[in-house]
Amino acid sequence: MAKTKIGIGVIGMGWMGGVHSRAYRAVADRFPDCPLEAELVICADEVAARAREAQQRFGFARSATDWQAVIADPQVQVVLITAPNYLHLETALAAAAAGKHLLCEKPVGRSPAETAQIARAAQEAGVLTCTGFNYRWAPAVQRARQLIGEGKLGPLTHYRGRLFVGYASDPRSVLSWRLQREQAGMGALGDLMSHAIDMAMMLAGPVAKVVGQQETFIKERPVATPGQGDHYAVKSGGPMQEVSNEDYVGALVRFKGGAYGVLEACRIIQGPQSEIGFEVHGTQGSIRWNFERMNEFELYLAEEGAIDPGYRRVLTSPRHPFHGAFSPGAGIGLGYEDLKVIEAYNFLQSIASGIQGEPGFATVLAVAEVQDAIERSWKTERWEAVCSL
Ligand SMILES: NC(=O)c1ccc[n+]([C@@H]2O[C@H](COP(=O)([O-])OP(=O)(O)OC[C@H]3O[C@@H](n4cnc5c(N)ncnc54)[C@H](O)[C@@H]3O)[C@@H](O)[C@H]2O)c1
Repeated sequence: MAKTKIGIGVIGMGWMGGVHSRAYRAVADRFPDCPLEAELVICADEVAARAREAQQRFGFARSATDWQAVIADPQVQVVLITAPNYLHLETALAAAAAGKHLLCEKPVGRSPAETAQIARAAQEAGVLTCTGFNYRWAPAVQRARQLIGEGKLGPLTHYRGRLFVGYASDPRSVLSWRLQREQAGMGALGDLMSHAIDMAMMLAGPVAKVVGQQETFIKERPVATPGQGDHYAVKSGGPMQEVSNEDYVGALVRFKGGAYGVLEACRIIQGPQSEIGFEVHGTQGSIRWNFERMNEFELYLAEEGAIDPGYRRVLTSPRHPFHGAFSPGAGIGLGYEDLKVIEAYNFLQSIASGIQGEPGFATVLAVAEVQDAIERSWKTERWEAVCSL
């Protein structure tokens, strides 16, 4: 199949910059039906060595230290924003104004209001958008979505969603940009709960109202050594500084469809490492899934359990969405970065068709509206309705 090339520019060549670069390169190979072939045009990072190294490693034609060069490049049609959250507003507004299609990593804005501003700008500019809610693309999660859509679980009664990671569980973990309100905006509510809210709404529908709570358990942390303030760096001794956003957030939610729910996210938990999961229950069955065992899910259908009750374990297979692009056999599983390849494929398909796909900025805005209600309820200590931003 003859493919049309599409120029990609990436801003921020840390963890996510690399993951996205590899993913866009892999789409043509994993999804031969995709009419667009990503061409890595230019990458930018404020650390010159990182920009140069990424250029060579991933095969970008050019690299730069100023992100404006990515947006100004006439060969760039799609901008991927994988920089820290404090750069999202400025870069996203500039990319939209330049008419570039735009992927911005979650949580998009530092605050729900910033997310709304970015979503409005992209809509007014008429560009197509995407965000990094990658966990939704796991074949097991997409299979769960199909089963729920087909009514196999019956009307949903309740839902539990969580994102439990321990990246900041060590008190010696440095005060990276993620742990500072000015730079990251929301803490666990933005960084982690955004994924859990997206997953919950994809599976159980929109949220009507919430009541939430939050806590910062580790109040201060070592100041990062410049250039080493990443996700997983630890440091003993030296000056300490206040952590200014939350380690934990929890919320009771009521879905518009009537189901009840609980959502939680925590970055200092001991035990779970990447427990991104859900349990969804209906009058006729239940499904549960956990990213730590991403290539399987547990299914209970009341009609099958009359004699032999209990969950049964289902391994993902080529008959489940996207699995076959990566392996021909059941139980031969995918990894984290494969979810980014699926995300990239879906975004390129959306660009090829000119039809906005999911999860675009409208989805992110819906997530932000839930985050906004949760933040309001921290202050009022009452149920808060989810309102338009
Ligand atoms: N979807 C996911 O699963 C997932 C996972 C991790 C991070 N993220 C999101 O991705 C984004 C980036 O996170 P990360 O973990 O890759 O961060 P990171 O700190 O590893 O990388 C950020 C990079 O941006 C660069 N940078 C900083 N200022 C810059 C500037 N002015 N111009 C150009 N580059 C600049 C830094 O030098 C660094 O290389 C965040 O918004 C985060 O929330 C998403």
